[in-house]
Parts: sequence; C-alpha cells; structure tokens
Amino acid sequence: VVTAEDYDGMSKEAAKFIYEAIEKKPDITLGLATGSTPQKMYQYLAEMLNENNIDLSNVHTVNLDEYVGLDGDDKQSYHYFMLEEFFSKVNIPLENTHIPDGKSDDLDAEVESYEKIIADLGGIDLQVLGVGRNGHIGFNEPGTPFNSRTQVVDLTDVTIKDNSRFFDKIEDVPTRALSMGLETIMDTKSILFLASGETKSEAVDALLNGEITEEIPVTILQKHDNLTVMLDKDVLGE
Ligand code: GLP
Repeated sequence: VVTAEDYDGMSKEAAKFIYEAIEKKPDITLGLATGSTPQKMYQYLAEMLNENNIDLSNVHTVNLDEYVGLDGDDKQSYHYFMLEEFFSKVNIPLENTHIPDGKSDDLDAEVESYEKIIADLGGIDLQVLGVGRNGHIGFNEPGTPFNSRTQVVDLTDVTIKDNSRFFDKIEDVPTRALSMGLETIMDTKSILFLASGETKSEAVDALLNGEITEEIPVTILQKHDNLTVMLDKDVLGE
C-alpha cells in the first residue's frame, strides 16, 4: 500500500509504476481503466513516455469496460475518454488498443470475442483499477458473482447517479455496460488499484479491512497475489 500526500502525488506515483512496467516488458499488455481517478496518471504517463521516446509499438491495451449504446465519438464514451486522455497523446498504434464495443448489434458475441482478445494476447500483465463508491470495479456492481467473465451488466442507481456528473442530465446516462468480469480481473498478473478522495473511503476500508463478499466486489482483490494499492491521504481520512 502506497499513500501519497494528495491526488497529484498519487497520479505521479502511478504513472511511474506503469512506466517502469513498460520499460521492463516492452511488449506488455496493459489493462486500462477510465474515470476521473486515473485521468492525471495518464497525463503524467504520456509526458514520461514522450520525454524518453519510449517505443510503444509492441504494447497492447485492453480496457475494462464501456457503456452500451454510446458511439465512440460520444464525449461520455470510454472510447472517447481513452483517445482524448491517452492514446492520442502517445505513439501507441491504435490497432493495439482494445475497448469493448458498446454499439455492437450482438453484445453476447462482443463479450465473447473480448475474452478471446485477452486470451490471444496471453492475458493482462498489469491491470489499472479504480473503484466506485459502492465498491464496484470495472462495472461489476454489488452482487456480481466472483466467477463472472466479460459480460453485459445493468448499472445500479448509485453508479448512474455518480456517473451522471459527466452527462447533461441523469436520463442520458446509459443503464447498461459491457464489463470485464471479476474472474477476468482476478486472472490478471498484477493489479494497480487507485483511489483518491473521501467519497471512496468506505470502499477502500472494505478492500483493506473488510470481509470478502460479493456484496462489495472490490473485496475480491484481497485474494490477488500481486496487488499494489495507491491512495491519497483524503481517502484514509488523514
Ligand atoms: C466508473 C467506471 C469504473 C471506475 C469508477 C470510478 O463506474 N466504470 O471503472 O473505477 O467509475 O470512477 P471515478 O474514478 O471517476 O470516481
């Protein structure tokens, strides 16, 4: 567990962690997350990669999740977020980047082929994770079975309300998403978990001290044998 002074410090530490993982394994497969938590980390990481002319031609990325029904050019889609915040800022070939297609006509086929993409890449070396206020990871809401794989999920009212801050009105927030499952996440070789700010305190407390329960999905991470937790002081109430 690494505790930084503030959000900025946590973001820098996280960027450094990923940068070093890429240096160590230039053909790494990164699992990526969206949300306001990793936003600044992507900024720092892009700066570090560009300053040092790091070759990303053999790096692959797979994102955790995407809303159902949003176009890639919709500003609230995770496709848009990733392009805007990271992919357009670094020299990674776009064909190496993968995000579930929430506009697919056949969502069942889409989730199946997403699992295949991950398997064909040899699994995920390093997965970045944020957490929802209710303890969700990816879009795996409370009650999601621990043995779930990538699937179509319904979002809870809490998540819809929390994520509505990015939309004009709450009715615009999609009610469904595609998300890697909890087992998909647990299969990753290492995890970098990030949380900042007091709204995440309860979820972080459950991760660090709570009982492992499907009611709080993040608690499953206690069983992962290569987990790094990066926090800021606010989340710990310090
Ligand atoms: C969304 C995403 C999660 C993310 C969570 C927290 O629901 N699907 O992957 O971790 O929100 O987001 P934020 O970092 O903006 O608080």
